[in-house]
Amino acid sequence: MPDNVHTKFLLNEDEMPRSWYNIAADLPRAPEPVLHPGTKQPVTPDDLSPLFPMALIMQEVSTERYIEIPDPVRQVYLQWRPSPLYRARRLEKALDTPARIYYKYEGVSPVGSHKPNTAVAQAFYNKEEGVKKLSTETGAGQWGSALAMAGAFFNMEIEVFMVKISYQQKPYRRNVMETFGATVHASPTDLTDAGRSILAMDPENLGSLGIAISEAVEVAAKSGGAIKYSLGSVLNHVLMHQTIIGEEALMQMERANDYPDVVIGCVGGGSNYAGLVFPFIGEALRKGLKTRFLAAEPMACPSLTKGIYAYDFGDTVGMTPLVKMHTLGHDFMPPGIHAGGLRYHGMSPLISLLHDDGIIEAEAYYQNAIFESAVQFARAEGVIPAPESAHAVRAAINEAIAAKESGESKAILFNLSGHGNFDMAAYDAYFAGRLQDYEYPAEAVADAQKRMPQVV
Ligand SMILES: Cc1ncc(COP(=O)(O)O)c(C=O)c1O
Repeated sequence: MPDNVHTKFLLNEDEMPRSWYNIAADLPRAPEPVLHPGTKQPVTPDDLSPLFPMALIMQEVSTERYIEIPDPVRQVYLQWRPSPLYRARRLEKALDTPARIYYKYEGVSPVGSHKPNTAVAQAFYNKEEGVKKLSTETGAGQWGSALAMAGAFFNMEIEVFMVKISYQQKPYRRNVMETFGATVHASPTDLTDAGRSILAMDPENLGSLGIAISEAVEVAAKSGGAIKYSLGSVLNHVLMHQTIIGEEALMQMERANDYPDVVIGCVGGGSNYAGLVFPFIGEALRKGLKTRFLAAEPMACPSLTKGIYAYDFGDTVGMTPLVKMHTLGHDFMPPGIHAGGLRYHGMSPLISLLHDDGIIEAEAYYQNAIFESAVQFARAEGVIPAPESAHAVRAAINEAIAAKESGESKAILFNLSGHGNFDMAAYDAYFAGRLQDYEYPAEAVADAQKRMPQVV
C-alpha cells in the first residue's frame, strides 16, 4: 500500500548515494562511436584532451555500472542534497485524479536547478588535473550560474558565453554568475573567430546555444591547455553525474512504498531527464519491468519527435566531434518568440539511442500549454516551475488527467528540474498573451539534413 500520509520523502545526509549510475553497463546495444570532425574516424582520448580532463574522458567511455563520487564533490552536494521527493497531494486534489503524482525537486540547489550536480563534479576533476580556468556556454543562464558557483567553490576562473537574447532578457542571471566571480559575454561576440563569422553574416544575430558552444570550445582549443571546456548537458559523463537524482528517487519511492508506472522529465540536451530516469531504466532493463519513460520537449525545438537520428556537430560552426543523435541540424536557429528554454538542436546520444530503441517515448508541447500547466502547478504546490521544467509538469498533468478518464490508479513521477523565480519575464509574456504557439516545420529539418555532415 502506498504511503497516503506523508507529503515529503526525505533522506538523511548519510543516506546520500555514494556512486553515480552509468547506464552504459545496461544498454541493449553499444552506443555509436564519437567521430573526429576532420577524419570522421572514432575519436581517441588524445583527440579530446585539449577540451576535457582525462578523468572525464575516461568516464565518457566507461562501461562500469557504478562510479564512486569523490569525497570533495560529495561534500559540496551536501549543501543541498539529498533533494526532497514530494507527493503532489494538493495537485492531485485540484485535478481530482486517482493517480499518485510524485516530483523530485531539484530547485533546492543554491542556483535553483539540477545543473550543479555536474558543474561541481566537472570543476573538481579539472582542478585535480591542474586546470585553472573553464570556458562554457549558457542559454537561459541556469548552467552558467551552476558552473560559476562551482568555480567559486573550487577557486577556478569561469568564462561564460551567454546566448545574446537571454543576456538581454535575463540580466539577473548574469548578475548571479558575476556574483560568483564569472566573466559573462553576450554571444555571438567579436572575441572569437566563430562569433565574428556569425556577426559578419548577421550583425543582429541574437545567438543560439550552438553558436555559444562554438565560441566556448574555440577559447579552450586555442588556449594551449590553459583553459578547458565544460558542457552542461548532452555528454555521457554529464548525464551520469545527474543520476544521483534517480538514485535518491529510487530510495525515496521505496520509502513512499510505491513505484512509478511512468517516469517523466523535460529534455533540452537530456541531462535532468537522464538523471532521474536512467536509474529506473537500468532497473527496468535488468528486472524486465514495464515502466514507461516519457520525455517532454517544446514544439518549437522538437529534437526527439521531429529530429533525424544521424551524425551531426554539437555546435553551429562545426568544431565539435560528430555524435549520432536526434538533431534538427547544427545550424538550427531557435525562434525568438520562444520563452521556454530547451532550445538546443541536438539530443544526448544515450537518450537518442534509447528513443530509437523504443525504450523512451517523447511528446512535444506548445508553450502556452506548458505555462498553463506551470501556473496550475504553482497554485496547487506553491513552487513556480522553470519554463523548462514546466514541460514535465504538463506531461505529468496530462498523464494524471488520462488516469482520471480511464479510472486507472497509477503512480506518476516527474523531475521538477528547477524553479522559475528568475523567469518572471516569460511568465509576464504568458499572462499578457504575448506568447505565440509555434511548431517547428518538418520541412526545415529535411532542409537542414542536406547540410549535415555525410558519414558513410
Ligand atoms: C531548470 C532546467 N531544466 C532543464 C533544462 C534542460 O537541460 P537538460 O536537458 O540538460 O536537463 C535546463 C537547461 O538549462 C534547465 O535550466
